[in-house]
Amino acid sequence: MILLGIDTSCDDTSAGVVVDGRRALSNVVHSQVEIHHPHGGVVPELASREHIKNIMPVVEEALNRAKVGLRDLDGIAVTIGPGLVGALLVGLYYAKGVSYASGVPLVGVNHLEGHILSIFLEDQVPDFPFVALTVSGGHTNLYYVEDFGQYALLGQTLDDAAGEAFDKVAKISGLGYPGGVAIERVARQGRGDRIRFPRAYLGKGSLDFSFSGLKTAVSLFMKNWEDHPDDVTLADIGASFQESVVDVLVDKAVLALRQKGAAALVLGGGVACNQSLIERMKARAVEEGARLYTPRPEYCTDNGAMIAVAGYHR
Ligand code: KG4
Ligand code: ZN
Repeated sequence: MILLGIDTSCDDTSAGVVVDGRRALSNVVHSQVEIHHPHGGVVPELASREHIKNIMPVVEEALNRAKVGLRDLDGIAVTIGPGLVGALLVGLYYAKGVSYASGVPLVGVNHLEGHILSIFLEDQVPDFPFVALTVSGGHTNLYYVEDFGQYALLGQTLDDAAGEAFDKVAKISGLGYPGGVAIERVARQGRGDRIRFPRAYLGKGSLDFSFSGLKTAVSLFMKNWEDHPDDVTLADIGASFQESVVDVLVDKAVLALRQKGAAALVLGGGVACNQSLIERMKARAVEEGARLYTPRPEYCTDNGAMIAVAGYHR
């Protein structure tokens, strides 16, 4: 079964063609980073307008690279939420139009289900049940996944998402947007144990997250530091911030593994590109007798292929 997957939930216009929910024939992403960069974050109205410009060429490119035409498709999957409403509407109505004109059936997909299932685009896939941590610009969610379509939410962020914290800290540090990549790069030159930023655990056994206090702590530190710079570098601040986020994500994911007695941990979402997170998570999972599964970066960040995977199982 061949599906075209389309995602326009945030600032990437993306489309991919996937066979049987497993093998990607193409995955095309048109990034809007250049458009939003001067604003230090995604401007929803600009995102919608960019999607309108790019949706047709991106889908055509995805079909061309996969060497399939509309007639070869068994289905079209499109993200229906969560995301920026104006941005979502562009992909949804484009997909409805193509479906109506071509007669290819359409299925609506939850963006987070796409992130959870993106690992199925890789050769090595986990057995059910597994624990999934989806960490992106909009979400920090822990799930217990018993099967395709069976997701129990174990915990989520009560305020900022992990990626949002990276983006905001990058902005106040003058590192620009998007923040995750910028902070990871600068953190490589710094010491993560230089500053002890807070870690919010929200009580024993809690699988929820909170990153807004951390963001405020970094912001306050930066104000004092700018007035009285000492031997602490911006790299130290970035590394110490990253260390704090990684500590909490790893501890909570391991706690979820223990609580559920699961043997596999799956990462997804843009923050799952972070090498420091992957390395620490892998080491801790091994200690727990569990195995870590991480999609390659192109399938961690928003993409159409993961939407085709989720659509196939729907
Ligand atoms: O999944 P995604 O592409 O879009 C959403 O659904 O939000 O995730 C984007 C988020 C951004 O906040 C970005 O700063 C973060 O993922 N991110 C990273 C890294 N690469 C992207 N965060 C930390 N380290 C990275 N290497
Ligand atoms: Zn996403």
